[in-house]
Amino acid sequence: MTGQTQVNRALFDEVMVPNYAPANIIPVKGEGSRVWDQQGREYIDFAGGIAVSSLGHCHPALVNALKQQADKLWHLSNVMTNEPALRLASALVNATFADKVYFANSGAEANEAAFKLARRYALEKFGAHKDQIISFHKSFHGRTFFTVTVGGQAAYSDGFGPKPGAVMHGEFNNLDSVKALISDNTCAVVLEPVQGEGGIIPATAEFLQGVRDLCNQHNALLIMDEVQTGVGRTGKLYAYMHYGVTPDILTTAKSLGGGFPIGAMLTTDDIASHLKVGTHGSTYGGNPLACAVAEAVLETVNQPEVMAQVLSNEQLFRQQLAAINEKYQVFSEIRGKGMLLGAVLNEKYKGRSREFFLAAADQGLMALVAGPDVVRFAPSLVITPEEITAGMQRFEQAVKQVVNA
Ligand SMILES: Cc1ncc(COP(=O)(O)O)c(C=O)c1O
Repeated sequence: MTGQTQVNRALFDEVMVPNYAPANIIPVKGEGSRVWDQQGREYIDFAGGIAVSSLGHCHPALVNALKQQADKLWHLSNVMTNEPALRLASALVNATFADKVYFANSGAEANEAAFKLARRYALEKFGAHKDQIISFHKSFHGRTFFTVTVGGQAAYSDGFGPKPGAVMHGEFNNLDSVKALISDNTCAVVLEPVQGEGGIIPATAEFLQGVRDLCNQHNALLIMDEVQTGVGRTGKLYAYMHYGVTPDILTTAKSLGGGFPIGAMLTTDDIASHLKVGTHGSTYGGNPLACAVAEAVLETVNQPEVMAQVLSNEQLFRQQLAAINEKYQVFSEIRGKGMLLGAVLNEKYKGRSREFFLAAADQGLMALVAGPDVVRFAPSLVITPEEITAGMQRFEQAVKQVVNA
């Protein structure tokens, strides 16, 4: 294609594989929690690129880190290591339970590494029988074939031929269902501390502690997928820190890069030692540009005042959503933690989350859904109270639009 190609939404249908159905607008510029489309129309961003833009758009610290690194060194591959990767790994180790870090480029890849490591660890330490992975219905762990099979929505993994085996699914927040599945053949239990795509469902403290205890009893690893909940999103650096329950392996992505693709798997020395030279890898994993940006994200986010802001923003979201609900009676519950919130539609509006999402876009607000029954909000962690209030005014108009339709 040459010359004067019109870059508009119609071009998507012409040149892109049809696995997405993007909105009709094309955003071209962002600053903080505001975004502008090709026509110059302004949107307030309560979506954060699905819980990714942890510091909003074009945060000066991140732009600076990227520009500085862009002038120095872009890529080496893992034949050599690089300074930003080593600094970022040290920062992650210092801030968490972990002793070791593996870098990937996305959440799915971080999980793929975690599942492979759990299998290898169990095989080497206990034998080939110990290969079963327990995860949960409605969970989401990515779109590679292994991660989508471990995820709890068969609709995403059906239709691609034979699936990786020895994967079973329990009921989230139901310890008895884990007890019924777990055995000495279990190599790992995988969970999201707050199920994201499944509908913004926080794990209960008893469930998380109970799963930890069961894993200990059966020498199974506890893998926490913090791809959506990590890097300050719930008001702690990682959501496990709210619960006082420590995983054996943790995966993180999304907010870690603040918009630059990166993922990471964190674990202990003992477990990491089973991913020996040649067992796993990635050309781009630990890329200097990605690591330089993530280092700036972590440094900026992991501050008491930012964590406090996430929690005060949560209160503001909850108050304003409650006020909207008082007027229009559309939600049965607001759930989630920090800047990962779900407004659950009541019986009358069940199944209609996409209508709210589309009406919000009409009103100049970027929101998200988490399944058919939940409107999801995952804005910048540092969105200001003024932006929240302005966005909520638009959301109220969107709710009115749906209710009066
Ligand atoms: C909990 C969780 N894990 C994994 C993923 C997959 O991440 P990615 O799309 O970066 O591969 C997601 C994405 O939504 C997620 O929410």
